[in-house]
Amino acid sequence: MSDKLIIFDTTLRDGEQSPGASMTKDEKLRIARQLERLRVDVIEAGFAASSNGDFDAVKTIADHIKDSTVCSLSRANDRDISRAAEALAGANRGRIHTFIATSPLHMEKKLRMTPEQVFEQARQAVRFARNLCGDIEFSAEDGYRSDMDFLARVVEAVIAEGATTINIPDTVGYAIPELYGQFIRTLREKVPNSDKAIWSVHCHNDLGMAVANSLAGVKIGGARQVECTINGLGERAGNCSLEEVVMAVRTRRDHFGLEVGIDTSQIVPASRMVSQTTGFVVQPNKAVVGANAFAHASGIHQDGVLKARDTYEIMRAEDVGWSANKIVLGKLSGRNAFKQRLQELGIEMESEAEINAAFARFKDLADRKSEIFDEDIIALVGDESVTSEQEHYRLVALSQRSETGERPHAKVSFFVGAKEVTSEADGNGPVDASLKAIEAHVQSGAEMLLYSVNAITSGSTESQGEVTFRLQHGGRVVNGVGSDPDIVVASAKAYLAALNKLQGNVERTSAQW
Ligand code: KIV
Ligand code: ZN
Repeated sequence: MSDKLIIFDTTLRDGEQSPGASMTKDEKLRIARQLERLRVDVIEAGFAASSNGDFDAVKTIADHIKDSTVCSLSRANDRDISRAAEALAGANRGRIHTFIATSPLHMEKKLRMTPEQVFEQARQAVRFARNLCGDIEFSAEDGYRSDMDFLARVVEAVIAEGATTINIPDTVGYAIPELYGQFIRTLREKVPNSDKAIWSVHCHNDLGMAVANSLAGVKIGGARQVECTINGLGERAGNCSLEEVVMAVRTRRDHFGLEVGIDTSQIVPASRMVSQTTGFVVQPNKAVVGANAFAHASGIHQDGVLKARDTYEIMRAEDVGWSANKIVLGKLSGRNAFKQRLQELGIEMESEAEINAAFARFKDLADRKSEIFDEDIIALVGDESVTSEQEHYRLVALSQRSETGERPHAKVSFFVGAKEVTSEADGNGPVDASLKAIEAHVQSGAEMLLYSVNAITSGSTESQGEVTFRLQHGGRVVNGVGSDPDIVVASAKAYLAALNKLQGNVERTSAQW
């Protein structure tokens, strides 16, 4: 059995199914490039048949990514599979990932199919897909709650048809580590041709055990592929978190005896990019990528770490891409220094015009904030969606007045398409007044589900504020993110970014299955 563990990232597909996490094609491509820098083996770029928007995103990623395999999900039918193959046509290495549910509950209540019909459909889907692509993954949705003998028959049949990877998801996060590991092991033993495919695990985090279950699937079950997402992003409680599973296997190589091809120094930049793009803030005590993951507050710990680092540290912060908050650039820094810092941070820009626009934003920020940190640059680049001229709503200026005992008032100027408008309103606080001023003109009717403010760099009130809004309208949920040293301005930017997503053509990519 191979000692290489394949890392299959599904941030752009299963992660994106999280309400509010929809991403534009450009955002997905930016994240896919970061996943390639992270050296993930497989990037699940989306579900090509679910919408034209998702088809374009999968195709764009397949056309640009060269080092990782690019994969599209598809239901087990000819139309979905053909669409996936079409979107992947330009890929250096493409994979079609087809799935059908195999648990009694899903077959009877959701699919309204008999087990024999599901068996036949799985077999035919893999046969059809194999004629279009050499790399086929088959997933038995709700596999962990399926009847073992039936599942073994299905898996044997799809391997015989040419499936190269077999994935057994714990779709609803019901598994317990030992039981899941044993389930995978017994299933492999029951399938006569099991050695003809790579076995994969895909765990959801409803009981907080997605990482533990995945690791048990590897150690006890013998799986050699783990499906995971950056920051554990995903529907409900999320998916298995990439950074945790990778660092567990790497830190405890003595136990797992497996190699992962990941460049771990790209983990924190990837986490930051996904959080910034989706507006899903990483909790401070989150393993590996949380702001406190390497912070030692107690005197005893600090003393220990100063004397010998490994007294309290099992991983090194720099190995996962944490750099100490260091001042990297300031007001006097030139375009070349800025461009070089972008390169050092692994941020690729398509054109000189894009670099010029980012540099102009950097100069604007440096005029208002004396010390610019790496985190500020990453946020500034991500903030492109707010300032890009292609966006429908763009902030021009904001002024607000608040005083103890007075009702705050705000005046906001912003572009609506090519037209600049100015709008004013009172509110409970300056943020409320600013949003009411915007709404007085836009009248979006959107319902606000979330408002959160975080400091981009810790430890000082000089930090920029990063604001996330989650809005809901017409059955769609979107997140908008904005950053600025002034949190009222950051809030207005984030609100306009969310309105842009609602107004734009960001299609919800998950199909109804
Ligand atoms: O959770 C699940 O079962 C899935 C499959 C479609 C792979 O995401
Ligand atoms: Zn899933």
